[in-house]
Amino acid sequence: MSLTPTPADRFSFGLWTVGWQARDPFGDATRAPLDPVETVHKLAELGAWGVTFHDDDLLAVEPDRDKAVAAFRKALDATGMVVPMATTNLFTHPVFKDGAFTSNDRDIRRYALRKVMRNLDLAAELGASTYVFWGGREGAETDAAKDVRVALDRFREGIDYLAGYVKDRGYQIRFALEPKPNEPRGDILLPTIGHALGFISTLEHHEMVGLNPEVGHEQMAGMNFVHGIAQALWQGKLFHIDLNGQHGPKYDQDLVFGHGDVKSAFFLVDLLEHGGYEGPRHFDYKPTRTEDAADVWVSAAANMRTYLLLKERAKAFRADPDVQEAIRASRIDELAVPTVAPGESYESLRSEEFDLDAAAARGYHYTRLDQLAIEHLMGAR
Ligand code: GCO
Ligand code: MN
Ligand code: MN
Repeated sequence: MSLTPTPADRFSFGLWTVGWQARDPFGDATRAPLDPVETVHKLAELGAWGVTFHDDDLLAVEPDRDKAVAAFRKALDATGMVVPMATTNLFTHPVFKDGAFTSNDRDIRRYALRKVMRNLDLAAELGASTYVFWGGREGAETDAAKDVRVALDRFREGIDYLAGYVKDRGYQIRFALEPKPNEPRGDILLPTIGHALGFISTLEHHEMVGLNPEVGHEQMAGMNFVHGIAQALWQGKLFHIDLNGQHGPKYDQDLVFGHGDVKSAFFLVDLLEHGGYEGPRHFDYKPTRTEDAADVWVSAAANMRTYLLLKERAKAFRADPDVQEAIRASRIDELAVPTVAPGESYESLRSEEFDLDAAAARGYHYTRLDQLAIEHLMGAR
């Protein structure tokens, strides 16, 4: 298996990732603005397939929107890079300091809808099939500020309205909600995959709304990301994914994919590669503030190489006869057998003989299987 990324791997990056100037709450930018045109060409050279953007990302060096869009298109045409996803910046401008769809200020809520509609038009023109909604400012720092029931009414109103717009315009676009528990708001609405799935089920156009889960965001909330992705797949709602790295519950690190909890990343790639996810492998990460302009591209390449290494190790893990034997010993295949036989009567189930002590004494041998996973991950097998 090759470790050289090609468009067939469907790797995509946000303009805002490699373009992050590394300004943080405690320090100024350490890198100059990056021209989106340069990003498209550089990522194409590295073997990426697609690039994604917020409306405002296109204006990083060219303030005139038409000129910026024209230059971006030209770079896409020249490289063959595609735009699988787009989104809106509803969090940087001070106007959104109390939220966009859920700001207490109705005029700001209406402005936010206009801003999204304008970028949905561009997203459709550029062929994006997914539109992400990360509600970074939808939340509060005090429970006094919002009746969350009412805030969710406004959030739902906004998504339903925009989904109606997409349908009325005939755009081939689906929406993907991106949960995050906090940062920049003290508490963000729809903080985890579970909350977002519950919210989607209440929407008028729920069939066209799914998820864009991010590794670090679930792990910030102490969740198991592999479990969350498995449920999103199980519910047919994994429309997109933000891959990066995180060292547990702390601020959002947006590390290179695999540079956080690498064992979780191994099992995530194993699930994505055999769990039926056909979507982009999208990296939403930030080159650390310590890196210079040249090493921004080292970090971009690191995401893809790490993914491909994990894909190779996961494939070897599944093909290993010792692993297959260990999977049998752990009776993992038995979980797929329905608990109740088709048409089985209540009496049949209730009258069954069962040796409670013998069943309680049986071991599952997971440690043997876990050690095999670790050894494959470490290249020791
Ligand atoms: C973050 C988020 C964002 C979103 C992006 C697309 O924590 O900053 O992950 O990077 O993914 O704004 O909506
Ligand atoms: Mn993030
Ligand atoms: Mn993200």
